[in-house]
Amino acid sequence: MSGHGTPIPMISRKSGPLSGTADVPGDKSISHRSLILGAMAVGETRITGLLEGQDVLDTAKAMRAFGATVTDHGGGEWSVQGVGVGGFSEPDHVIDCGNSGTGVRLIMGAMATTPIAATFTGDASLNGRPMGRVTDPLALFGTQSFGREGGRLPMTIMGAADPVAVEYTLPVPSAQVKSAVLLAALNAPGQSVVIEKEATRDHTERMLQGFGAELSVEETPEGRRITLTGQPELKPQDIVVPRDPSSAAFPVCAALIVPGSDVLVPNIGLNPTRAGLFTTLQEMGADLTYENMREEGGEPVADLRAKFSPNMQGIAVPPERAASMIDEYPVLSVVASFAHGVTDMQGVKELRVKESDRIDAMAKGLRAAGVTVDEGPDWWKVTGLGADGVPGGATVASQLDHRIAMSFMVMGMASQKPMSVDDGSPIATSFPIFEPLMADLGAQIVRANG
Ligand code: S3P
Repeated sequence: MSGHGTPIPMISRKSGPLSGTADVPGDKSISHRSLILGAMAVGETRITGLLEGQDVLDTAKAMRAFGATVTDHGGGEWSVQGVGVGGFSEPDHVIDCGNSGTGVRLIMGAMATTPIAATFTGDASLNGRPMGRVTDPLALFGTQSFGREGGRLPMTIMGAADPVAVEYTLPVPSAQVKSAVLLAALNAPGQSVVIEKEATRDHTERMLQGFGAELSVEETPEGRRITLTGQPELKPQDIVVPRDPSSAAFPVCAALIVPGSDVLVPNIGLNPTRAGLFTTLQEMGADLTYENMREEGGEPVADLRAKFSPNMQGIAVPPERAASMIDEYPVLSVVASFAHGVTDMQGVKELRVKESDRIDAMAKGLRAAGVTVDEGPDWWKVTGLGADGVPGGATVASQLDHRIAMSFMVMGMASQKPMSVDDGSPIATSFPIFEPLMADLGAQIVRANG
């Protein structure tokens, strides 16, 4: 199955020690938001270090379709000439968000309170994902949506002509839903409120404040209560996109399981709403340290150093940490396979509605590689086989999911026999330089047909 052109089968073989520096690309979440908020500001936003992965490029194209001028100046430097809150024009073609749930859900929110219509679609993965979680709260503003059965794409959104402010409690811990509601609230008069019981990544809140919106956050007994005053004039910003902790996870985890490795991954944002994986790895006994801790652009940043860690122990990952590492469970399950004992991951129902059902996709591949996995609707457990105990030797379906493909490429670097994926092409959605970056560290990943 491929929605990205010709499938690219890949093989990863046992690698010598990984060493050197891994300069991972810009943060995907912040890159999407920079383009969208830039398009909703009045004037020119400049962005340095934008992730030029396919997901973000699709968002850039969408912002052009809504009337913003988005320019690629080369080398990760971009600018966006915004049209202001409520200034989007009606696109004259279907908006294709490719593989990106973040792209489509945030853009739906951003156009939902402007009286225009837009039709959204995506690849086979995105068109299978639930959109009702976004269109339900958008309906409270007066927005209409017409999609396929089960609230799936393709879907047409009719923006509200007279939007009203809303108060909404998130039924699922999702930064995408929270952000869609906040972006819609930008063009609703008065104060809108979003309440989240569990804290999810807070980039939208931080960036809205940076763009000059009146936004406050209170910790209350019912959860984080975010209040946004509608119809501000957003002021363009100069944004330096930090590097992506979710991409850093791959070279870090690879170094922990490949004997003799010592890898530096510099300039990684350690926003507490994103850094749960690194805490978990440290609790498992990983030799993972933070060097040069500092603050940049209001966010904690450090250089991560990861070394081969043959004595990691499985742990019970606290469910309340799930939101802060939701994209990292696939690669954590690979590390867990090389640890001793059981790694127990509870409270992770959201993994079932990502680019793939990530519990199912990983469990199938891990079992084929000789690892025992138990699973339930919102939990899974991986029984580790120790540093040199994972048989490997399987080919896994990546199911149009970049993180499934990269996780099994990491596994193949340390398993006894190589690991293959049927299609590594989705890696380009979030980490287009994954193959050369890993090769520079000493990994042996090859394209099976190349
Ligand atoms: C993201 C939020 C998360 C995450 C995704 C990026 C974001 O999704 O899985 O990769 O940028 O807001 P959910 O909001 O569905 O949890």
